[in-house]
Amino acid sequence: MELLKQKIVHEGIVLNNNVLKVDSFLNHQIDPKLMLEIGKYFAELYREAGITKILTIESSGIAPAVFTALQLDVTVVFARKRKSLTLQTDLYTETVHSFTKKETNEVSVSQKFLNSNDRILIIDDFLANGDAALAMARIVEQAQATVAGIGIVIEKTFQPGFSRLKELGYRVDSLARIASLENGQVYFAPNLP
Ligand code: G4P
Ligand code: NA
Ligand code: NA
Repeated sequence: MELLKQKIVHEGIVLNNNVLKVDSFLNHQIDPKLMLEIGKYFAELYREAGITKILTIESSGIAPAVFTALQLDVTVVFARKRKSLTLQTDLYTETVHSFTKKETNEVSVSQKFLNSNDRILIIDDFLANGDAALAMARIVEQAQATVAGIGIVIEKTFQPGFSRLKELGYRVDSLARIASLENGQVYFAPNLP
């Protein structure tokens, strides 16, 4: 997606060989015009996929998920990293180990918001090692619902997330694919056919 690539080139900050900071439009500030285009792009990819709901994870997945959901006329549910005060039971829960942050967290979704008839589009901001996306996919499978696909805003192709998801048979669509962050520079990977 060209607009996204331009944003990454102009505003992204390469923190080190593994991490791209995109606080100005995705992880802290949010650029709504960019989000609208992201939503349209994912919606076109999944227009015929019979999506009934979008699943994401708080916090940075929520914006792209909501803009996509608006285009597909479906609801968004986001996996919570902390259990809500009002709801402690009837949760689907999975463990996510964050390689970036070196911590392990539980993520949960209320059982009442997923059912076995759902065809779920999973959306997230980054795909690195794939642990967050895998945890969401396992939650969908706990609910005996179907993972129709996984939509990623920024994939780092030099980390194993994409391969892990493909090996499990999931459809994965990334809007920008970064092949390397070496020498303080963003190198994009070619788009997949
Ligand atoms: P994984 O899910 O693919 O295995 O990734 P990992 O555990 O490494 O990611 C942990 C957090 O770091 C996630 O955000 C993820 O979106 C984010 N992340 C991973 N790689 C990058 C990167 O290169 N740049 C930026 N900016 N973020 C990255 P989170 O902790 O869930 O936070 P948030 O959603 O509240 O922002
Ligand atoms: Na994030
Ligand atoms: Na995220």
